[in-house]
Amino acid sequence: MRRKLAAGNWKMNGTRAALLELQAVISAHADPSVNILICPPATLLREAAILAEGSAISIGGQDCHAEVSGAHTGDISAAMLADAGASHVILGHSERRENHEESSDLVRAKARAAHAANLIAVICMGESLAEREAANTLDIIAGQLASSIPDATNAGNTVIAYEPIWAIGTGLTPTVEQIDEVHDFIRQSLIARFGPEIGDGIPLLYGGSVKPGNAAEIFATDNVDGALVGGASLKQSDFSPIINAL
Ligand code: G3H
Repeated sequence: MRRKLAAGNWKMNGTRAALLELQAVISAHADPSVNILICPPATLLREAAILAEGSAISIGGQDCHAEVSGAHTGDISAAMLADAGASHVILGHSERRENHEESSDLVRAKARAAHAANLIAVICMGESLAEREAANTLDIIAGQLASSIPDATNAGNTVIAYEPIWAIGTGLTPTVEQIDEVHDFIRQSLIARFGPEIGDGIPLLYGGSVKPGNAAEIFATDNVDGALVGGASLKQSDFSPIINAL
C-alpha cells in the first residue's frame, strides 16, 4: 500500500517570516499517517528543519548538485541538504530543466547523488503544451522516465511527480482522464523496468495548479498518490485543505 504524500514546493518564495506558515502547517497536521513535505528555499531549510523536528512534516530541498563537493559556486550538494535536515530533494523540475537547461541525464546524476546521501528524490517530468497538442505526451514521458530515473531506484528512495508544464502556475489542469492516462503509463513503465514490487511501490504525485477546490477529484484518480503543490502550498490556509483531501 503506497503512502499518500502532500508536497509543497515554495520555489523562490519566502523570507524568514514565511516560517510562520510552516509552523501553522505543523500545528494543524499532527497525524503521522499522512506524509507532508515542505521544500522551502535553501536559505530557510535549516531553520525549517529545526522547526519541523519531531513533527509529522518532512523538509526537502528544491535541487542539488550531482557532485558531493567542489568548485561549484552557488550550488548545494545532496549531502549538504541532508546535513541541514532535509529528507527529500526535488529534482528535474521543469523550471530547472528550462531555466537552467538541465537534461534528463543530469537529473539522473543528481538523483544518484541524492540516493547516495540517503535523500528521497522527488523526480519531476512533464510535457509542454506544444508536445501535448502534437500528441507526443507519452513519448516525452517515456524518454524522461528512461533517462532521468537511475537503475538503483526503489520504492523507498524515489517519488515521481508528473507535472504538465502548461498546468504549472496557470490555473489550467488536465482532465482526470488525462492525468489517469499519464499516471497509468508511468506505473506500467515502472513495473516493466523494475518489476511489480518496486514498480507498484513508487509513489506518483500530480503537480500543476492543484488547489483546495480540485484536490479531492485529482486524488480520487487511480495511481495518484498525492500532489506536488506550488502556489497553494505557500499559505497554510490553502495547503491544509489539500492535505485533508488526501
Ligand atoms: O512544484 C510545483 C509545481 O510546479 C506546481 O506549481 O501548484 O503553482 O501550479 P503550481
